[in-house]
Order: sequence, then structure tokens, then C-alpha cells
Amino acid sequence: MKIIRSKQAKYPTLLKFAFAGEIGDVPDFKAKDGEVAVRYEQGFTVVYCGLGKREAMAPHKARTAAANGIRTVRKLERMGLSVILPQEVENKPDVELACVEGLYLGAYEYTEYKSEKPKQLRTCQLVGATAPTKKINDIIAACQAACYTRDLVNDNADAIFPERLADEARQICRQEGFTVTVLTEIMMEKKGLGLIHAVGRGADRPPRLIIMQYKGAPDKPEKTAIVGKGITFDSGGQNLKPSGSIETMRDDMSGAGAVLGVMKALAEIKPAINVIGVLAAAHNAIGAKAFFPGDVYKSYLGKTVEIGNTDAEGRLVLADAVAYCEKNYHPTEIIDVATLTGGILIALGTTVAGLFTKDDAMADRLFAAGEDTRERLWRFPLYQEFYDAMKSDRADLCNTAKLKKGYASALTGAAFIGEFVTETPWAHLDIAGTAYNDGSPKGETPQFGTGFGVRLMLKYLGVI
Ligand code: BES
Ligand code: ZN
Ligand code: ZN
Repeated sequence: MKIIRSKQAKYPTLLKFAFAGEIGDVPDFKAKDGEVAVRYEQGFTVVYCGLGKREAMAPHKARTAAANGIRTVRKLERMGLSVILPQEVENKPDVELACVEGLYLGAYEYTEYKSEKPKQLRTCQLVGATAPTKKINDIIAACQAACYTRDLVNDNADAIFPERLADEARQICRQEGFTVTVLTEIMMEKKGLGLIHAVGRGADRPPRLIIMQYKGAPDKPEKTAIVGKGITFDSGGQNLKPSGSIETMRDDMSGAGAVLGVMKALAEIKPAINVIGVLAAAHNAIGAKAFFPGDVYKSYLGKTVEIGNTDAEGRLVLADAVAYCEKNYHPTEIIDVATLTGGILIALGTTVAGLFTKDDAMADRLFAAGEDTRERLWRFPLYQEFYDAMKSDRADLCNTAKLKKGYASALTGAAFIGEFVTETPWAHLDIAGTAYNDGSPKGETPQFGTGFGVRLMLKYLGVI
């Protein structure tokens, strides 16, 4: 879908916004938050989108309203749409940008494996925009990147395997300013990346550690590393997941998918910053060659790890990825993004992700970015007892906690990763609840892969 700015509405399908209590003669429409009504008026199809009460207006309401509205337009199978942006509102440019996000993100639907495809909405006209064109274009690039991440998450595990993620990285890094390094399983063995190697060794499709470097400001010392969990399918390994938990596990590369999305947006926007994107990619398979519960494997950092459960594999691949990144690329801060634990889903549900860091400044900036893009975060503690719970009697660490089953599992999982970052400020985002929506679409959140984290990280990096 193309989004263009214009002075006048050209299409006979209009999308209009309305505040509760201020809407005149639209029958049976109260303009409540997210409410949508279709009315036919003098040859026009008008899709009304409710913004709720004017005094409670916030950009996220515009985002949700626009997304619900455009989803309705798609169902009507229109080719073109004219959007009359809200006028005379507080924070007008922010509201407009949120509308654009809602339009782009709400128009997304995954139809790859449907024989009959719905008609595409080709053009969406923005009428009455006042935000700078560059800002609008950057927001569109960020949304395109989030949709790219959604596509990667939504495709089959059979299609998205570690080497395929490496191919995606190579594609993105073709441009100037980028370099990409791909470590194969043989190189992993040689370099002592024993944890990611162990997780990936049972699969027919071997693991990859993928490092993408974007140097938009070669003279600046700051470089942020974003490290994504890229388990292209999580069967649980020998601790096999049961039916009911295994079916959506192609989404276990959502963190890596989000990192690819961010790098893709950087390639488009070309901001003056430095970013290292790392994908810890492996298929956690069951089979004759799979790693063993109870065995001890040696990490890149040198710490030995007892395997309490082969299904706690995300922290293993990330441990090696953050350690390798810190030692060889010297980032000034590290953020890992991972569908790490079922525990975060129990704690926060599907609309808020877990934030873990000891660095208050990073916490504040990440929290604020999440509020802005409405990919909200909530901070959890990293107290000493959670680190202590990961000690092993047989090795240095164990990948499962000594606590009662399920207790504080998101916190101990985070602490485990923290054991592998030695001195760099580090934050961990657990997106296991927010990366995938197995319910109906709602606002800017589609069914299936959500692309959670892409806009959040771009906001954090100051790109959008
Ligand atoms: N990939 C899962 C976490 C997950 C759960 C992601 C639900 C998305 C939705 C992860 O690898 C896992 O299996 N974690 C276990 C760890 C446990 C064995 C210590 C968990 O959280 O139950
Ligand atoms: Zn697992
Ligand atoms: Zn997993």
C-alpha cells in the first residue's frame, strides 16, 4: 500500500475521525475509543473512526482508531482511500504520525498461504497533513520494517531457518555503511561458542550467529548492540514441548526478526548512529544429535552450564551471542530481545513486555520509547537471589532455576543472560507475550506475528 499526501480527497471512500459528543448526525455512532461505523453519504462511503473524548485524546488513540478504520476499508475491498486527518487537535504532528502508523500497521494481513487473496488497498491519501514529509516517510519506513518482521514470523518454520535469516541479513547489508558476518556451526565449535552450538546441533538446518554492523556515524564512539533470540523453531528439544504449547513455536525467532526489522529501517532511513544487530539463530530440535538434559556445555565466556532443561534454550543462545558481541565488537550498550519465557505471559499478558536492566537510565529511556510507540514495557528486578538461583552443583551455572517450578521464571531467565555480559550496560526485553497474537486483530495489532519491538527500538535509537 502506498501512502501519499494530498491537498484534496480524490477517492469516493473516506476515512474520518470523530470525538465523542462532537459528532453531529451520524446515526448509531458514538465515536467511542476505537469504534468504527460505515455510512453511505451522497455517493461517498464514509468510514468514521472514534477517538473518544477530546480531553482524553492521546496519539495512541489515533493509532488504534486509524488501524480499526483501515481494516474495515480492506474488508470493503476498496482500491483507494482518502483519509481526512484530524484537524485542530493538541499535538497535531504526533497525532498525524500515529494515524499514519495505524493506517500502515492496520492494513497488514498475512495471506501468503491463502489460495484466494483479498483485494489489496493500493493507495491511501493523507488529506490535511501538517507533519514534515521526512517524518512521515520515516514513520512509513519503520512500519514497513515492522511488517517485514511480521512476515518473517508468520512464514513456516520450514522456510525461515538460521541460514535463511543470514540471507535476509546479507540482503539488508548490501548497502553502503553495512557489513555482515555469519558464523557457521564449524566456526562456532572452533571459537568455543559451545552453548549456541549445543542448541543448534540436533537440527538438519545448522545454527548461525549473524552480526550486522551499521556505521552511520563512524566518528561517534556510541554504538548500541541489539541482540535477538532467533530460535526458528522451538520444539523444546529432548524436553519436548506438549501439544498445545508447540504449535506456535515458529514465533521463537521474533527477537531476531525484530532486529532484522530495525536494521532494514536503518538501511532505508540512514540515520547518523551506529548499531550492531546480532541474530542468535538456531533450530531447537529433537533427534539423535540433539543436546542432552543433564550434560554440561562450555560457553564462549568460559563459564560452564549444566542443562536443566533443553527447552530453556533461548538464554543459552543469547548467552553466547551477548558475550561474543561484547568481546569482539565493544558496543557501548547491549539490548537483547527475546521470546524468552512463558512466565512473562503469565505476569503481563499479551500487551506489555518485560524489561530487565540494572541501568536506570536505560530503563527510563526504554520505558519512554515503549509508551510513545505503544509497545509498552514494565520493569522487573534483577536482585542477587535471581542470579543465585541459577548456580549449579555440577557446573558454574544451570539453565534452569533452583526455585520451585515456575517461580520467577522470567526473572531468573533474565539473570542467566546477565551472567554473560561483563561490563557493558545491558537491558533485556522479554517479548514472549507480545510477539504473537493468536486472537483476533485489534487496533494496530494483527493476528499472528505482531512485529513487536521494531518501532520501539527505532524510537529508543532516536530514528523515529
Ligand atoms: N520459547 C519459549 C518461551 C515462550 C513461551 C515463548 C510461550 C512464547 C510463548 C522458551 O524457550 C521456553 O520454552 N521457556 C521455558 C523455560 C523453562 C523450561 C525454564 C518456559 O518459560 O517455560
Ligand atoms: Zn524453549
Ligand atoms: Zn524458546
